[in-house]
Amino acid sequence: MDELDRIKELALKDLENLRDLSVLEAKRIQHLGRSSALSQFLRSLKDRTEDERRAFGQIANRLRAELEERYTASRDALMDSAEEMASRLDVTAPGRQVRRGHLHPLTRASEDINAIFAAMGFRIVEGPEVETDFTNFVALNFPPDHPARSMQDTFWLKGMEQLMRTHTSPMQIRFMQAHQPPLRIVVPGRVYRNEATDATHEFQFHQVEGLMVARKGEHAPSLANLKGVMEYFFRRYFDDPELHVRFNASYFPFVEPGVEVYIKGTKGKLAGRWLEVAGAGMVHQNVFENVGYARGEMQGFAFGACAERLVMLKHSIDDIRLFHGGDLRFISQF
Ligand code: FA5
Repeated sequence: MDELDRIKELALKDLENLRDLSVLEAKRIQHLGRSSALSQFLRSLKDRTEDERRAFGQIANRLRAELEERYTASRDALMDSAEEMASRLDVTAPGRQVRRGHLHPLTRASEDINAIFAAMGFRIVEGPEVETDFTNFVALNFPPDHPARSMQDTFWLKGMEQLMRTHTSPMQIRFMQAHQPPLRIVVPGRVYRNEATDATHEFQFHQVEGLMVARKGEHAPSLANLKGVMEYFFRRYFDDPELHVRFNASYFPFVEPGVEVYIKGTKGKLAGRWLEVAGAGMVHQNVFENVGYARGEMQGFAFGACAERLVMLKHSIDDIRLFHGGDLRFISQF
């Protein structure tokens, strides 16, 4: 019995503070293997009497079973330990590629556009998408029954007083109501039109509005300045120093004169032909009066373009509906 106690004590002591699977295996062989003290003890039983054999054999076998259980438990614990995991980590194995997301092409375009105008000293401001009839139309010189209202098919809310803004121009009104010239702002944002969709029309899209106003005088923004700003912007945005800008006379109630901005470049869809890309003009004196400026004292220009159409020209995209179609084959190309 003393010998069995000693065997047990030694075997259990060796389990303490074990950190390494190979050491554990060596200890297991030492205490439970064929040449272990326990195996030798069991073999030596054949020289004992029948009664001794039965009594000691039972105790020794129970000890063997107990020790085997303890060693197995220790091995399982070691396998699970973080250290063991780390030692089995193969740092030379090839990595698994992580697929990263990216910005939507329109978000990227919006950031690019804002950055170019910011470089020219324009402040970027945003406005509400739910607008009033006053800011979206009336103050912009669309009187209630004016036929020009039919230029922008409108989603009306709450009995013709509120609406989903049809353009970003109402921010001209909000900003001028709250600020005195000189001012220079760009307003990116989503707009809504109650229109049937096709390859070049969506019922919701994005515009970039610009407004630059100062007191009349030598340095007040002129039509020539507008052309310079347009030229700088489009050359930078399309990365085309050979791009040219042309104005055609046009009509918007809130500008006089009003123009359509055409550009012709040297790359992709812009190569060699004039394309209309924005509406613009000199801010109408009625608009200045509607925001509380004295008639005839201020001078400035405004412009508005559709962001989707700029991206379409830049990347040769043929259908505006692709932007929000949710087709990953389209989105993943950017
Ligand atoms: C306006 O919305 C004026 N607010 C622009 C403006 C601002 C003029 C400042 C003068 C001074 P218009 O309705 O033309 O104008 O729309 C501007 C641009 O939006 C158009 O040139 C066109 O490229 C684009 N656009 C118009 N309707 C849609 C549509 N349904 N889908 C996509 N783009 C459209």
